[in-house]
Amino acid sequence: HRHLTGIAGLQPHEIMFLLDEAEQWVERNRDRAKSDHRLDGITQINAFFENSTRTLLSFEIAGKRLGADVVNMHAAQSSVKKGETLIDTAMTLNAMRADVIVIRHGSSGAVQLIADKVNCPVLNAGDGWHEHPTQALLDALTIRRRRGDIAGQRIVICGDVLHSRVARSNMLALTALAAEVRVVAPSTLMPAAVDRMAVTPFTDFDAALEGADVVMMLRLQNERMNGAFIPSTREYHLRYGLTPERLQHARPDALVMHPGPMNRGVEISSEVADDTARSAITEQVEMGVAVRMACLDVLTRRARGVEGWA
Ligand code: CP
Repeated sequence: HRHLTGIAGLQPHEIMFLLDEAEQWVERNRDRAKSDHRLDGITQINAFFENSTRTLLSFEIAGKRLGADVVNMHAAQSSVKKGETLIDTAMTLNAMRADVIVIRHGSSGAVQLIADKVNCPVLNAGDGWHEHPTQALLDALTIRRRRGDIAGQRIVICGDVLHSRVARSNMLALTALAAEVRVVAPSTLMPAAVDRMAVTPFTDFDAALEGADVVMMLRLQNERMNGAFIPSTREYHLRYGLTPERLQHARPDALVMHPGPMNRGVEISSEVADDTARSAITEQVEMGVAVRMACLDVLTRRARGVEGWA
């Protein structure tokens, strides 16, 4: 089976194909009368070992809108709490004859480990510091719809780049699609591996914002750093918080994005987050459902006997 464990495994034309597939669902989701039954009889298990609002709910809604039988496994209420290993949990899901498994896990590489063990397509809903591919796809779709194209756009990604699977997947996707990507972080939150990516690193947010078409803000991942990487959230906000004043460095029509969940007053001020003329934050959530419908459809095509990419 073909899995979706990361953007790293995709060719640029495959990313574009998934975005094109998602477009049809954006329109059809807005017209709720049009339901689809292509995943009738398919069992989709969402196994979430970390908390989620957007990703879990949108994968559930996406599967249901396509007719799949969707079940959710929350690790906190599962036998993981009794000491069951990840592999044993994966084999248990496999024995229930899942047709597609969606996994979020706190360890980088955990999703690949499960993908190697089960007999169905596996979709990564975020693994540790590694990747969150459907987030990058929904962000790319949002940018393409708002800006007309991704190639040539100056896109600034600012925040806790070190711990962010969203940043990593976005750097891979947006550079593959020929955007000019700038990443901004305090030096303690900038990964050393940034030098191996086709992006330009900055520590000065104002300098990075000059001429920006898109400004994508990231949350400080406090659960992954024990407060060790920044002096205080107040100081962080002063240097790296997106405020209306700071946004003036970007283009007047620059798009503001955030994958959520936001920490208002830390990486983004409420004035910017709630400025509906500039902020695409709720649109990103809407695109998330469409992108996940496309991914579930495309990845299960082979099992359903349908010609296609996977
Ligand atoms: N953006 C995102 O992954 O949000 P959740 O953690 O709520 O799923």
